[in-house]
Amino acid sequence: MNIPSDLRIKIFADGANLEEILRLAKDPMIKGFTTNPTLMRKAGIEDYETFARDVLAEIVDRPVSFEVFADDLDGMVAQGFEIAGWGPNVNVKIPVTNTQGESTVPVVERLVAEGVVVNVTAVFTLDQVRAITAALDASVPAIVSVFAGRIADTGRDPIPHMREAVEILRDRPKAELIWASPRELLNVFHADESGCHIITVTNDILAKLANAGKSLETFSLETVKMFHEDAAGAGYEIQTDPGKLKLVR
Ligand code: E4P
Repeated sequence: MNIPSDLRIKIFADGANLEEILRLAKDPMIKGFTTNPTLMRKAGIEDYETFARDVLAEIVDRPVSFEVFADDLDGMVAQGFEIAGWGPNVNVKIPVTNTQGESTVPVVERLVAEGVVVNVTAVFTLDQVRAITAALDASVPAIVSVFAGRIADTGRDPIPHMREAVEILRDRPKAELIWASPRELLNVFHADESGCHIITVTNDILAKLANAGKSLETFSLETVKMFHEDAAGAGYEIQTDPGKLKLVR
């Protein structure tokens, strides 16, 4: 993978396709993996635990996040301990609230107290970042996933937001901030500039890393060729009237 050498940020792969995960695992530039129930459902996974254990049987040297899906806080704690037991490299994803909007800070506190590495997910507001930061233990690694792309989807600029989140998290030096839900390759650079520790990237955006720094002349020519080849491939024709040439000056 072609990752510009001046980037400090760690790249995680976000997805739930085992084949893709294993392909990406061969690349040392990919420093970890994230999943979520939506990606797993889209990938057609029927058995949550079997999928997770299959991934963890292969990937032992990098963190992999699996999310709890209980909606009551005790259930989240129980699932969190269970998932944490699947492997030493597991990060337990805890949504920042349950579906009633109730904060999961007590869940985070209980898991962190036992040394579980949590990945608090679906975080949007800076108040949420503050509350989670306070719940973390300075001696236990943790991740906070702020959904910068979804924030951008509301018309807000995520960059100053993410910079502030980085500052808030400084209180917990072992905690890392993920720029989650990127929408374009440029976000990798945005996340790096903002001081985020990690960006988690889906395959479609990872594929665009090959374009990093590419000559715009080359890219322009490739685009022109693409239009030309697709028009030819589709067999398009326009009957032209030679008399109209006089309109071209
Ligand atoms: C992060 O861990 C999430 O799985 C992911 O970034 C969500 O992205 P989305 O907003 O594209 O669903």
